[in-house]
Amino acid sequence: MEGVADLESQQVDKMEMLTKTPFTQKATEEPQYKLIAENIVASYNGIEAVKKVNMKFRDRAVTALIGPSGCGKTTFLRCLNRMHELTKSAKVTGRVLLDGQDLYSNREDAIIHRRKIGMVFQKPNPFPTMSIYDNVAAGLKLNGVKDKKITDQIVQGCLEMVYLWDEVKHDLKKPGMSLSGGQQQRLCIARALAIQPEVLLMDEPASALDPIATQKIEEMINELKKEYTIIIVTHNMQQAVRVSDYTGFMYLGDLVEFGETKQIFENPRNEITAKYVQGQFG
Ligand SMILES: Nc1ncnc2c1ncn2[C@@H]1O[C@H](COP(=O)(O)OP(=O)(O)O)[C@@H](O)[C@H]1O
Ligand SMILES: [Mg+2]
Repeated sequence: MEGVADLESQQVDKMEMLTKTPFTQKATEEPQYKLIAENIVASYNGIEAVKKVNMKFRDRAVTALIGPSGCGKTTFLRCLNRMHELTKSAKVTGRVLLDGQDLYSNREDAIIHRRKIGMVFQKPNPFPTMSIYDNVAAGLKLNGVKDKKITDQIVQGCLEMVYLWDEVKHDLKKPGMSLSGGQQQRLCIARALAIQPEVLLMDEPASALDPIATQKIEEMINELKKEYTIIIVTHNMQQAVRVSDYTGFMYLGDLVEFGETKQIFENPRNEITAKYVQGQFG
């Protein structure tokens, strides 16, 4: 990997060139929003977990989804990249527009667009048999990147973006699973970034981590939002205040209130929101 430091500045361009889909479709409506969820109804075995939720997500901003356990946050998040329907017995209706294009309009488009939406799960889930390096490189191979030097650059670039490079640069061949929980989660974020998504969905990414690892994840989110649209589910209200620009409060499958994070926490309009952010239930 020697000599890669001088190539740092070229790295971003290379990643763009390599991993962007060859055609960029024009936004047809509301271009100021990167992602728009319209009338999302999601159910399991006919029971609605998300009830007609509408939400709009701004580009290069962090939106937090908060609400008590079981109110449909994870389910809604999984509708945003068509993961919900992969669960047996699960159904979803509504539209999700990415740059104005409906992810739900047909299957082929969904696969192309889904690549632009990365996901990070509550529990770090590195590929268990793979090295640190291979975990990050995994998606690149699938996308046809074969050149070793370019792969090296992208792996380093993504590990740097999650502040993990300095901690693992001498151990790239070690198993991903040999890392601490916090490092594993950052590895999973690097893996998601390697295929150059435009939107990053994070489902309670720090809930299994200690305070120091949590702080690292939060610092990283602050950096990443310069480049990405980030949607983060969190049950930690202080975390929502620290990392997000906008907040949606969900309760019993409904989006009860949505607004700027400051407004939601300091001046909620809805009584249930007020009770929740004051810690009176949840
Ligand atoms: N795989 C599943 N099968 C059946 N019901 C589920 C499944 N996953 C979640 N649910 C139900 O859907 C509702 C919303 O869950 P979830 O989206 O996980 O909420 P949250 O992330 O806010 O805790 C809950 O009532 C939960 O029990
Ligand atoms: Mg959840």
